[in-house]
Amino acid sequence: MKKIPIGVFDSGYGGLTILAELLKKMPDYDYVYFGDNARAPYGNRSFDVVYSYTLEAVDFLFKQGCELIIIACNTASAKALRTIQQTDLPRYGTNKRVLGVIRPCTEYIGQVTNSNSIGILGTEGTVNSNSYPIELKKFFPSLHVAQHACPMWVPLIENNMHNTEAGKLIIKSDIEGFLSENPTIDALVLACTHYPVLLDYIKQLVGETVQVVPQGEIVADKLVDYLARHEKLNATLSKGGSVDYYTSENSVFFDKAAATFLHRKIQSQHIAL
Ligand code: DGL
Repeated sequence: MKKIPIGVFDSGYGGLTILAELLKKMPDYDYVYFGDNARAPYGNRSFDVVYSYTLEAVDFLFKQGCELIIIACNTASAKALRTIQQTDLPRYGTNKRVLGVIRPCTEYIGQVTNSNSIGILGTEGTVNSNSYPIELKKFFPSLHVAQHACPMWVPLIENNMHNTEAGKLIIKSDIEGFLSENPTIDALVLACTHYPVLLDYIKQLVGETVQVVPQGEIVADKLVDYLARHEKLNATLSKGGSVDYYTSENSVFFDKAAATFLHRKIQSQHIAL
């Protein structure tokens, strides 16, 4: 039977935290993961650059036979998704779909606050795009939304320095500074694929009054729901339980680092875009 996998794209390793949840909720499907590690981070790149890199990734995943692609990267979802959906997707045919992570999260997030005040933590690109506040206003018009960019966090995680004293101090200072400026916040959204790696430490910092919300589970739940509503697409997707991993960097590096994000051993292949 022909393999028709779900494509999962991220600028690097972070999307593996989303894939991990997809594999928990939807283990029967086939997946292709592509991490553009050679060109990551995307977080501080311009709109044009993030768009052109994301389009190349989407093109690659369609060539692997995907009919549905999840752009797991928040920065790429914020800066490239809409243009790809509106301008590029029609070229690939009517049955292809590309979805991001911002919409499913914003549909859900407003429900988790009692104080009607939430905080978004993300890359500079995601925060400066204002995508979260704009989308959230559509579903929860009265919600107070504050944002904070954490430009040091992705490099800390990528270099495995987030557990060092210096790394922890940087993360602590971001969180404490942000919450002291926005004391009504009772839910913090980890709007970057890398940040779930810091979940335990962030929970420890904020205590029990602030809920910390990673995205993976929300995205996976919303995808289950989306496929239930799109039966034809769902029937097309093959269910062989396989995952193929591709990286634009060295595959040995990728396989080693992937363990931090996915907690399983993998064997990736290198591709040059
Ligand atoms: N994957 C990116 C995101 O979710 C973070 C890493 C990057 O800056 O490329 O925004």
